[in-house]
Amino acid sequence: DTVYVLNGPNLNLLGVREPEIYGADTLDDIAGRLEDRAKELGLNIEMRQSNHEGHLCDWLHEAQAEGAKAVLLNAGALTHTSLALYDAIRSVKTPVIEVHLSNPHSREAYRHKSYVAMAALGTIAGFGAYGYELALEAAAKL
Ligand code: DQA
Repeated sequence: DTVYVLNGPNLNLLGVREPEIYGADTLDDIAGRLEDRAKELGLNIEMRQSNHEGHLCDWLHEAQAEGAKAVLLNAGALTHTSLALYDAIRSVKTPVIEVHLSNPHSREAYRHKSYVAMAALGTIAGFGAYGYELALEAAAKL
């Protein structure tokens, strides 16, 4: 089974970008550990990142077309703005698990609303890079 791991805007800069908030790991570091954990769980992962909303919509559609077991989605700031992502998640039957490195609810008020959460199966936030592994474990149990 394959789990898509989709990352939105500015997450290509992880490790460099505000490390006091998002940690020192790069997205490649996270992908490496996720690959190891996926192997242990008998899963494949398809890791992607884009700064463009439409790519994330396309990949959600692709995940369903390819019969993915689940999607882990860290939509970055699009989390808080994107009705298109909300509709895309609702448009596919593939379960979507929302992931955030930080805990948006303990941050600025404009990060408290999540269009992703309104359509996702569940959310893992606030555990840094380890949250991706926690989300993969949740996906494995589905
Ligand atoms: C984030 C939280 C968002 O509010 C922010 O815009 C990001 C990263 C996180 O992983 O903590 O880009 O999704």
